[in-house]
Amino acid sequence: MLDVPNTTEKSFADGKILKSVTEGVGVITFNNPDKRNAMSLDMWEGLGHALIELRDDGEVRVVILTGAGDKAFVSGADISQFEKTRHNAQASEEYSRRSAAQRALLADFPKPIIACIRGFCLGGGMQVAMAADIRIASENSQFGIPAAKLGIAYGYDGLKHLVSLVGPSQARLLMYTGMRIPSAEARRIGLVDRVVPDAELWDATMEIARTISNNAPLAIKAAKITIAQVLKDRTDRDMDAIKQIGLACMDSEDFREGRRAFMEKRKPQFRGH
Ligand code: COA
Repeated sequence: MLDVPNTTEKSFADGKILKSVTEGVGVITFNNPDKRNAMSLDMWEGLGHALIELRDDGEVRVVILTGAGDKAFVSGADISQFEKTRHNAQASEEYSRRSAAQRALLADFPKPIIACIRGFCLGGGMQVAMAADIRIASENSQFGIPAAKLGIAYGYDGLKHLVSLVGPSQARLLMYTGMRIPSAEARRIGLVDRVVPDAELWDATMEIARTISNNAPLAIKAAKITIAQVLKDRTDRDMDAIKQIGLACMDSEDFREGRRAFMEKRKPQFRGH
């Protein structure tokens, strides 16, 4: 089992999405281990509620997404719902519409998100993991997008993330074959950022989360906004947003605190303004 602290404060989707806050780090757990944490529409909605609460919680500076149990992060969309919710183009449109708000929340989330991945990370699980800012995986994980094995199309957002992480050629290889690749290969092609031994996954993820949460929130926000704009087409880029967050940083109390702490040889205490 992943050593996630047992401090669930709230649950959504009949307990299939858990939310907790520990040391200023928000944790969302996909909790349907019997189905390898396959994502139902209810879970998408629950994920949305949990994200909104963590977004609006001033104590939370970074969020970790993880899967319950030791077998999977998320094994994809819940295929058992497909006969009812995604059996044709019209139903699929409705399915996309119902999860669109939650996907947008994930895409526009203002704080860093880390995906902590153990076991299977497939299909919709990849979509969630790729929407995170950073991916840390245990050695025994497996990654893949078996859309071609099911006969479904993987949407624009997911493929955009995939192409930007691994490039068009590796994206084609993964999509055309539907193959599953192990962590080492995922690391090699840039799908995940760090691979650690299974027993160290939670501590390694928390260490990165803690480091982020001790840093200056505005500077992190500036990096997040700027990197997101770099990934957009030139014509869609909001250069003004980059400029405004840059100015806010340079005028911030935290920048003053960062300078002082350096000169006084002490740890800075950042407040986010
Ligand atoms: N949707 C619905 N149920 C799923 C699921 C999914 N995406 N992934 C796993 N499950 C269910 C299985 O049906 C099984 O249910 P059962 O116990 O009632 O038979 C249970 O989870 C355990 O899965 P099982 O296949 O027995 O476990 P495994 O460890 O041998 O294999 C996977 C795990 C994830 C590799 C395999 O279940 C799988 O290939 N799942 C589908 C992955 C997929 O195509 N995802 C993309 C969807 S778009």
